[in-house]
Amino acid sequence: MRDKIVAGNWKMNNDLAQTEDLLGNIKNELKPKEGVRVIVAPPFTNLYHAFESLRDRPVDVAAQNMNENKSGAFTGEVSAQMLTSIGVKTVILGHSERRAIYKETDELLAKKVDAALENEMEVIFCVGEELHERKAEKHFDVVRTQLEKGLFHLSAAQWEKVIIAYEPVWAIGTGETASPEQAQEMHAFIRKTISEKYGQQVADEVSILYGGSVKPDNAQEIFAKEDVDGGLIGGASLKAGDFLAIVNAF
Ligand code: 13P
Repeated sequence: MRDKIVAGNWKMNNDLAQTEDLLGNIKNELKPKEGVRVIVAPPFTNLYHAFESLRDRPVDVAAQNMNENKSGAFTGEVSAQMLTSIGVKTVILGHSERRAIYKETDELLAKKVDAALENEMEVIFCVGEELHERKAEKHFDVVRTQLEKGLFHLSAAQWEKVIIAYEPVWAIGTGETASPEQAQEMHAFIRKTISEKYGQQVADEVSILYGGSVKPDNAQEIFAKEDVDGGLIGGASLKAGDFLAIVNAF
């Protein structure tokens, strides 16, 4: 059985005091749900605090990015080993904001994936098309290429540490959500693409999350779809009440 997962991507939000506040509220109000994993991804500066604060709680902590190199002259960067040294074992890679704003290519992302897996980290790998690509009906091709270039060099065994997040760029932070049917259609396509390369068992065990304007009032119908195993939540993960309502949507 694959995991159901609700992950909060805080992006570049929350200083230390705000982090303490938000995590405090999440800890107070979280009612663990059997079979649902909860992850929060604060900015780098708050990861150590978050990990320590959540140590005895069923909430995992993820980084939002990392560098592909082990160490060295890479000013401003953070390595996988640095993350694991503070207890962080999960990293989001390939978010569309990293791809679009910081020009991260599929080739670079493949290297980051390797660095994470070499350090026994788990990867939440984001894929998704832009609006013009969907309008041109290229969305399946775009997502297939992102999967192939970023992940298809891995062995079947390495997929145990991979979670996919489908985030159509046109639905991120826009208030516009993919319909549950659009999400299901793409998630089923992703699973089929993985099964064609790795076989049905690997495909059946990969959790595929949906991201893009998930809110308490739409989470339930999106999560109800067969191939949607949870969500990667941006804006709504910054309010404990909303984030936990989404967790409870399962
Ligand atoms: P929103 O939920 O704010 O649309 O962001 C989605 C996202 O980018 C999560 O990684």
